[in-house]
Amino acid sequence: MTAQLTTRVLSADAAAIAEAARILGAGGLVAFPTETVYGLGADATNGRAVARLYEAKGRPAFNPLIAHVVDLRAAQALAHFNAKAARLAKAFWPGPLTLVLPKAPKCRVSDLATAGLDTIGVRVPNHPVARDILAAFDKPVVAPSANRSGHVSPTRAEHVQADLAGRIDLIVNGGATPLGVESTIIACLKEPVLLRPGGLPRTAIEAVLGQKLAYAPPGSPRADDAPIAPGMLAAHYSPRTPVRLGARRVEPGEALLAFGSTPAEGAKSAQKILNLSPRGDLIEAAANLFSHLRALDGAGGTRIAVMPIPADGLGEAINDRLTRAAAPR
Ligand code: TXA
Ligand code: MG
Repeated sequence: MTAQLTTRVLSADAAAIAEAARILGAGGLVAFPTETVYGLGADATNGRAVARLYEAKGRPAFNPLIAHVVDLRAAQALAHFNAKAARLAKAFWPGPLTLVLPKAPKCRVSDLATAGLDTIGVRVPNHPVARDILAAFDKPVVAPSANRSGHVSPTRAEHVQADLAGRIDLIVNGGATPLGVESTIIACLKEPVLLRPGGLPRTAIEAVLGQKLAYAPPGSPRADDAPIAPGMLAAHYSPRTPVRLGARRVEPGEALLAFGSTPAEGAKSAQKILNLSPRGDLIEAAANLFSHLRALDGAGGTRIAVMPIPADGLGEAINDRLTRAAAPR
């Protein structure tokens, strides 16, 4: 359960910017305006802060988040830019364009923020308040739209307050956002593909690239089309090792993804054991989910057995993710 927080609202002056950076550094949640919509920011490198963010939004599933940075140089520390990606970044950043790119090996953004994917969405926003916060914090900030899951994106601080008061630490009020629609998302893995139409018209992008863009919303058959980017756009990481859920005992050859303080039967014979949260904390479990799954996937077991995870709070998103990982392929 989310503990009830006192959500402060500050108008966007120098003191508010400094306070926003301080709260982000302490693992807190700060809503702030961008030129598109208000974002709900967390330290992208802090898995627990990212887990709290999903919980505050009430997301039933872990969607990958956009990492916001202050300039192209900061973005290059997170992701690999091919020639077309670099051209788009130079033409449109800062601005309402998000690029989905291969995650750089040294990228420090948490696995939970990218939902375990090898790709990352990055954007350099063009709003003085967002830019000042990013400059003051000096680390990437993940920021989904600052609304409860399933609600529309907020374009005023009052919308954020109506949706998220009591669930986040601070709202920086910078007035109405100029564009009012989310950023346009382009995947640049091989050939550029439009994933989400948004504040930057596709015609402007096509003019810079000198080519038409294919449109492939996430989950569409097109998104998985071999000619564009084989298997890379499906926004879900899945282990190669089969996954067995609700395991109370470990079968021979299995690796174990544990949860809580009660040991599974036969745990001594497990190929490898990692515990999502020995003290049974779902926020800690979410923060560890993708990195533990990856580590167990590489442990050489015949299967990954997963102990039961409670369904409340972030447990719903964790179980959603695990159910997908266990689905027959
Ligand atoms: O204008 C915006 O983009 C706003 C402001 C706050 O920057 N942010 C925003 O974030 O709209 P969000 O989380 O509400 O939407 C981000 C979208 C999601 O649909 C997510 O699936 C997609 O971006 N996305 C992020 N990373 C991705 C990735 N690696 N691969 C595919 N899709 C990705
Ligand atoms: Mg959104």
